[in-house]
Amino acid sequence: MEIDSKTQNNAIADESKFSYRRILTGDRPTGPLHLGHYVGSLKNRIRLQDKYETLVLIADIQALTTNFEHPEKLKENIFLVALDYLSCGIDPNLSTIIIQSMVPEISELTSFFSMLISVNPLRHNPTIKTEAKERGYKELTYGFLGYPVSQTADIAIFKADLVPVGIDQLPHIELARKIVRKFNELYCGKLVEPFALIDKFSKLTGLDGSLKMSKSYGNAINLSDDYDLIKSKIRSALTDKNRLHPTDRGNPEICTIYSYHEAFSGKALLKETNYDCRNGKIGCVKCKENLFGVVKNLLEPMNEKRAYYLKNKDEIWGILHAGTAKARKIASETVREAKESMKILY
Ligand code: TRP
Repeated sequence: MEIDSKTQNNAIADESKFSYRRILTGDRPTGPLHLGHYVGSLKNRIRLQDKYETLVLIADIQALTTNFEHPEKLKENIFLVALDYLSCGIDPNLSTIIIQSMVPEISELTSFFSMLISVNPLRHNPTIKTEAKERGYKELTYGFLGYPVSQTADIAIFKADLVPVGIDQLPHIELARKIVRKFNELYCGKLVEPFALIDKFSKLTGLDGSLKMSKSYGNAINLSDDYDLIKSKIRSALTDKNRLHPTDRGNPEICTIYSYHEAFSGKALLKETNYDCRNGKIGCVKCKENLFGVVKNLLEPMNEKRAYYLKNKDEIWGILHAGTAKARKIASETVREAKESMKILY
């Protein structure tokens, strides 16, 4: 994606120079989360929740923009996403987990914001364009075209100043800043212009070697997969195609498995793997077994928590309802304030 450097400088947060207060992140509940989510966002959120007030939004309305034909799947998917969050270390005492549709004030703010942006910048938004193309959309629904406006409301309603996201979400944060600025200028508002916190290691390659691990490409290792399934997925993953025998010299730079070692393995194993592969001292089968060991170690503590929550499913819904209720208080106060600035508080 091409983003001009001026845009980047303005919208990207610098944690070393400024102090931020409140984080908002979110996911669409479209299915179980995978290792790509872990590397690209979950790991970062677990680090950040100690440092900042953290809100995590399960964006079920945004999920409808592409899944409106199957709203009945949302409930199960919300549960699965929350289960993945809690299992991997998002701590409900430090992070507030929110269900988007249960904060109707977000939709209210979205409708006010929708007056402040014309349709052309939305149509030219690079992320919308890429997504529409990937999904083969010829016509865009009003909801799909407008989801960045709703996302702006997600962020602004909680006065979040920091939004940790992958680089593909940067155009949305830039848009959020524009809308918030316009709102504040027009109505003497007190909304907060957010910054994007971009994780450098924000993408994991797919098992098939394609650029991105993604549920829709069917090339993902889910956090909830059992070990046998993970083992067989790793076994079938693409490596250096030119390497036919374990003693051939390999090239880790073009190997999917090596990119996973980079993401998950410790320094010593990484160095050893690189050397042994380049010098034909380790075969792909053994290298994959090593990786499986590393992934298993990562997932083991998560699976203990997962087993606990699967026995206590009501606890998950309790956490979701409590988080949402807490968030709703902030949201209704912001909407009241926004209406006051707009002089439409009757
Ligand atoms: N668009 C984000 C994604 O697809 C999900 C999301 C919804 C989000 N609302 C948000 C991200 C607010 C950050 C802030 O991953």
